[in-house]
Amino acid sequence: MKTRESGMPEEGMWHTFFDTAQVLSALGLQSVMSDVADFGCGYGTFTIPAARIVRGSVHAFDIEEDMIAATREKAVLFNLANVRLNRRDFVAEGTGLPGASVDYAMLFNILHMENPEILLAEALRILRDGGILGIMHWNYDPETPRGPPMAIRPKPEQCAKWTEEAGFLIVKRFVALPPYHYGIIAKKGQNR
Ligand SMILES: C[S@@+](CC[C@H](N)C(=O)[O-])C[C@H]1O[C@@H](n2cnc3c(N)ncnc32)[C@H](O)[C@@H]1O
Repeated sequence: MKTRESGMPEEGMWHTFFDTAQVLSALGLQSVMSDVADFGCGYGTFTIPAARIVRGSVHAFDIEEDMIAATREKAVLFNLANVRLNRRDFVAEGTGLPGASVDYAMLFNILHMENPEILLAEALRILRDGGILGIMHWNYDPETPRGPPMAIRPKPEQCAKWTEEAGFLIVKRFVALPPYHYGIIAKKGQNR
């Protein structure tokens, strides 16, 4: 089932909210990394720049065919053969990726969902030991131009708590991603 309040505004507007290169760099995506998972790729806003950075594939997941199509269009346009598209309900079915198979997982603008622990558990499962989880969400501020209603919008400390409860180690508890977002960097522990 599609997670609550996860519809997208028009693409041109969405892309004005982010400096994608700055976000990915600030949240620890590195060119030495191999495979990546993008949970809820939307328009491919972060899938496409991530595919240009890493050595491996970016596995992009979305429940909406339109979002998969929009991401596919860009992957074709920019000749990015390492973008792997999956139309899938990752809440009901997970990602289908093997355990311990990716270096980086993105949970961007999605953790206001009904059961965030489901995605955090799936991210933990698919990450290799030492793999990095990047979380981004809208600032806890009613003045942001978009974002989920304040009643369900998680504060940074709430996201960090869920992340720790899922079994991750927090690397950076708060990363400012101006103008409208914040981030968290977490890691899958070595002995897991
Ligand atoms: C708010 S958008 C964020 C898109 C992208 N992460 C970004 O930050 O640009 C959330 C995306 O998650 C997708 N989504 C929602 N529920 C889903 C589910 N159960 N399985 C897969 N995708 C889902 C939506 O279709 C939407 O494209």
